[in-house]
Amino acid sequence: MAAVTLPGAHDHEIARGPGPGGNLTARKRDLEHVLSTLARPRIAWPTPEPRWPFPDLPSGLAFLARVDRQLHAPELAQLSRDVVRSGVWRDYVVACEEYRDYRLVFENDFVDVWVLSWLPGQETGFHDHDISEVGICVADGAIREHHMHLRGGDSSHILGIGDVQEGPFGYIHRVEHWAGTPAVSVHAYSPPLAWVGQYREAGDHMVRLRQPGRTRLAPP
Ligand SMILES: [Fe+2]
Repeated sequence: MAAVTLPGAHDHEIARGPGPGGNLTARKRDLEHVLSTLARPRIAWPTPEPRWPFPDLPSGLAFLARVDRQLHAPELAQLSRDVVRSGVWRDYVVACEEYRDYRLVFENDFVDVWVLSWLPGQETGFHDHDISEVGICVADGAIREHHMHLRGGDSSHILGIGDVQEGPFGYIHRVEHWAGTPAVSVHAYSPPLAWVGQYREAGDHMVRLRQPGRTRLAPP
């Protein structure tokens, strides 16, 4: 079940409002707004359970078990491309109209690999991957990736079948369905995705909410 995580000591506020010594009443009001938003009832979405151990790793994906060190974004992109080329990703497609669904393909101490399924209207909201780097390859359909700009607005591009995207340390993006029922993408993270940072508006501020890596990311 997806847990609601309140802002903690590790959450970082993006300083777009009053800084130290600024309007404390306004800052308190903004914090109360965030807390009241988080306190709203949420849909109890199931969280995928890892399939430990992996003796049933398909032979077509045996190369994943040979990852024995931390990988960087270009290597993760190649790894996700290899999963797409294996064709085995088809066994992990789990499109669901109620919520954006995905399946864990493999994990060890250095990497975790997921197959994500996207239906029209499903998206992540802006987020980062904490200390993990990421590589993405589209297996079917198309997804649209957005990047945030500090000076306002965002930009986006479409990733179609076979396209890859590298997300180095510190990468921030928003991903949404673009084409296909479902669109399918393979995502590889290193180190394994333990935490994510979700970005939310709070008055005239933006805040980063640190949440467990297997939280189902969604827009507010
Ligand atoms: Fe992401």
